[in-house]
Amino acid sequence: MDKERKRVVFVEAGSAFVDVLFSFLTLPLGSIARLVNKQSGLGSLDNLYESVVQLDAEHLQTEACKEMLLHPWSVAARQCGNLKIKYIYELYPVLFYICREYNCLIQSTIYYSCTSKVPCGSCGNLMDHKVDWPKKTLDEGGIFVNDTVDFIMTDDLRVMQSSFAKGLSILKELQIKDASILEERVVDFGTKDALDLLKRSLVSKNALTEFCFPDACVEASGYSSSSNKDEIVAGEAEAKVENEIILELFLNKRNNEVLCAEVGEDFLNFLFSFLTFPLGSALGFLSDNNISPLGGCIHNLYSSAKSMSSDCFKSEICRDMLLTPKLYIFYEYKKQILKLKEDSLKVVIVSGKITGKTFTEQNPKSAKGKEDNDGAFVTSSKRFMISDNLRVSPMSLISHMCNEIDIPISELVRKEVSMDKTKAISLLHALLVSKKVLTDVFFPKPIRRRRNRENVDDVALF
Ligand SMILES: *[C@@H]1O[C@H](CO)[C@@H](O)[C@H](O)[C@H]1NC(C)=O
Repeated sequence: MDKERKRVVFVEAGSAFVDVLFSFLTLPLGSIARLVNKQSGLGSLDNLYESVVQLDAEHLQTEACKEMLLHPWSVAARQCGNLKIKYIYELYPVLFYICREYNCLIQSTIYYSCTSKVPCGSCGNLMDHKVDWPKKTLDEGGIFVNDTVDFIMTDDLRVMQSSFAKGLSILKELQIKDASILEERVVDFGTKDALDLLKRSLVSKNALTEFCFPDACVEASGYSSSSNKDEIVAGEAEAKVENEIILELFLNKRNNEVLCAEVGEDFLNFLFSFLTFPLGSALGFLSDNNISPLGGCIHNLYSSAKSMSSDCFKSEICRDMLLTPKLYIFYEYKKQILKLKEDSLKVVIVSGKITGKTFTEQNPKSAKGKEDNDGAFVTSSKRFMISDNLRVSPMSLISHMCNEIDIPISELVRKEVSMDKTKAISLLHALLVSKKVLTDVFFPKPIRRRRNRENVDDVALF
């Protein structure tokens, strides 16, 4: 640390710590909101999460769908169970659910699920008997990174293989000319600390300094919604999406800000399924489309994982788990505009007493007599209202008219818009950085020099 300015210059750590840092990228967005108790500070993510908490299960395909959105599993959950710091143990306790019925357990196929409240494939009763995963002996050599490598990382979480030259270049970058201002400090790091660092990495550019000196006043690095926005590079002409999602927006015609939107289940599924997206994949979508990163420094972790030499990782598969983490099995919503593959890996459970049986993971989205419906979470013929900061509720005319409309009715206009891939990526970004998500996606402020700004053909309501 720089003892005069009270800031972290760099951190030297072994693979166990770096594994914990990199594991952040494997967490689905909904799991992040859950872990930090809906205080992620990421745009409107916490509101979206809370909307699902409040949503009546009757609007969902199955009861378990709510569990999937509020408690999304990660493909790396079992690997993360071996982290030195068990900060996500509560999130992914290493167990699964099977049926209690003796008759179902003597069949040759035994159904199980990682989500609670899923019906048994044999008898249809909800499976609620908890079973521990058989202990998997951890193969040697770390979890994500190579455990023989030493690492250093900067205050803003750029991780690299340790070398004297890199240390010097960090000093140079921070304009530290005199090494006598440096002081070494050894810091203990436990479960609470991991959650604290996760939170800081999402919103602060000085994550490690703030972590080590929580009282020090580091310049605020909050995201301001009008700066820090790049024009979205309009990709190649998008193929027409076959399942077009239409939203009806109500906006203030004075400032083109969205008050609320009326949507159906297709938009809700599109929106809610972002909760199941692992952070690494979400950052990948943004970085592949040259969208400016989030307010914190978590994107540095992502680009470090991308640029570090393969020697630093346990394997390329482990690196891919960080950069392009898949969805957990059965989590994919097939009509999601931003395609993310789900893991197809079937885990074979072998244990002394129950060999010779087939274990089949039940799809939590399909209940008896119900189709899977393209992997939809929400199935409801109801209409829903969404506020600009992503609070969702089933439409109730009276309450929405009385509570949401705080401008003269004559200033309200209605506009129909549809989602395409560019807008979908822009929405994913806005979800993580903005409290005016719909406005930012559909009526971006002209700071961005958009060439062909959409014409708002206002439809006066009254
Ligand atoms: C781990 O690092 C060591 C030393 O740098 C290297 O020899 C070894 O090949 C690496 N292992 C992997 C799996 O890359």
